Amino acid sequence: MRVDIFTLFPDIVDAYLGVSLMGKARGEGLLDLRVHDLRSHAAGVHRMVDDAPYGGGAGMVLMPEPVFACVEAAQPQRPLLGLGPAGRTFDQRLARDLASGDGFSLLCGRYEGFDTRITDHLVDDEVSIGDYVLAGGEAAAFVVVEAVARLVPGVLGNAASPDEESFAEGLLEYPQYTRPPEFRGWAVPEILRSGDHGKVAEWRRAQALARTVARRPELIEVRGGLTESERALLERWGLGV
Ligand code: ADE
Repeated sequence: MRVDIFTLFPDIVDAYLGVSLMGKARGEGLLDLRVHDLRSHAAGVHRMVDDAPYGGGAGMVLMPEPVFACVEAAQPQRPLLGLGPAGRTFDQRLARDLASGDGFSLLCGRYEGFDTRITDHLVDDEVSIGDYVLAGGEAAAFVVVEAVARLVPGVLGNAASPDEESFAEGLLEYPQYTRPPEFRGWAVPEILRSGDHGKVAEWRRAQALARTVARRPELIEVRGGLTESERALLERWGLGV
């Protein structure tokens, strides 16, 4: 998978995505990450990339010339996604869509955002990682790259795990435990140590449903509410709602 990232802070991006799971994926050739410095195509001794907004107002806006020039020189993998709080909200579904392709590219904003000709004529879509405003798109780029790359076959050691985790089926993940069996008086649920795989799977499903009902009821709504068999499952495990 090829991922191109356009940023004013290439060192930060390279440092973050050079370690841990992403660094390993790059080392193994599973992730071809190319980081581009938006300043590399800026003109003049000061290599200016931003300017004051027309019409006045606070902050600076990224100029079209250096951004178009940098992107056009790199011929990045499409789609090119502009990162900013006005984009469509990133979620596991978009992560899966991106993971099923050959790659994508991210344009990180800074300051007050991009000149709108960049969003209108250069990027394919705009993406936000949530309803809050960051100082720039770099942290958002880490979120997107990590969420997508870990779905690429081979990146995670345990190939089965992406299917079982939170959001895989529109539900939050069930609770997980490891050793010791008892810690400060808090015991691991007996069922998980029973060796009955069928019962464990049923308990996990009931827990995932109950957690989602309690914490993220809107996710249950999106799925069309609880089915009769889901209600019965929750009843059976004493988690009825
Ligand atoms: N840049 C600033 N805020 C952002 C957000 N919420 N998502 C993506 N990029 C951003």
